Amino acid sequence: MAALLEIDQMSKTYGALLAVDALTLSVEEGEALAIIGPNGAGKSTMFNLVTGDVRPNGGHVHFQGSDITGLAPHLRSRLGIGRSYQIPHPFTNMSVYENLLVGANFGGRMAEQDAYQYCAEVLHITGLSDKANVMARSLTLLQRKRLELARALATRPKLLLLDEIAGGLTEHECNALVETIRAIHAGGTTIIWIEHIVHALLSIASRLVVMNFGRKIADGDPHTVMNDAEVREVYMGIPAA
Ligand SMILES: Nc1ncnc2c1ncn2[C@@H]1O[C@H](COP(=O)(O)OP(=O)(O)OP(=O)(O)O)[C@@H](O)[C@H]1O
Ligand SMILES: [Mg+2]
Repeated sequence: MAALLEIDQMSKTYGALLAVDALTLSVEEGEALAIIGPNGAGKSTMFNLVTGDVRPNGGHVHFQGSDITGLAPHLRSRLGIGRSYQIPHPFTNMSVYENLLVGANFGGRMAEQDAYQYCAEVLHITGLSDKANVMARSLTLLQRKRLELARALATRPKLLLLDEIAGGLTEHECNALVETIRAIHAGGTTIIWIEHIVHALLSIASRLVVMNFGRKIADGDPHTVMNDAEVREVYMGIPAA
């Protein structure tokens, strides 16, 4: 059976910069994959290639066996690819609840009655119930990050791409977020999570990919990858012996 997501030799350049350099990556249904790498490694750009936010200079992406390389972002959302943005992108002049309803109606293609119920559940899961009627523009950054997760969930994704949603959280908040993500994964959603907080990532993920200069430099079991000499040098600044 084909993998849920297959990125095949994808590249993205910005002028002379190779942000993503012939990246090949495949993710099976039900996996929880963690991605780390230094700032500017091309992690968010990789997500943008999967969601269609940017067009590749080369390569292909398949989702559930279909080539989606040329597909518009909203159609990829309807196929079941949901994402949170590193810099939150809410509809600022709508309430938190309305933000979710938009996701459920247009991304998740849910009937109106079902959407009300489902979005109330998403508010509960993401700890935003008491903010339901607050305008998104008046949320704090941390609340906006929660809203990013909630907006992605509202589309009922099969594949959920999380881009640095835990940065800046207290340890207690981070633990709560990890439990939320664990529950989402246990519910059957495939997850790719980019984060710099490695212990949070590895409490969920069974596989770890490391990127550097647009390339994948390691991919596999987290313990093995974290002990890889190149990873230790690039990511932790530990010189190779
Ligand atoms: N729209 C853009 N225009 C020009 N350069 C860009 C653009 N988007 C990304 N880049 C560049 O592409 C490279 C990869 O950026 P990207 O945001 O994918 O990195 P990242 O791994 O997500 O980094 P971070 O950990 O800081 O979020 C960086 O050098 C960045 O400056
Ligand atoms: Mg990024």
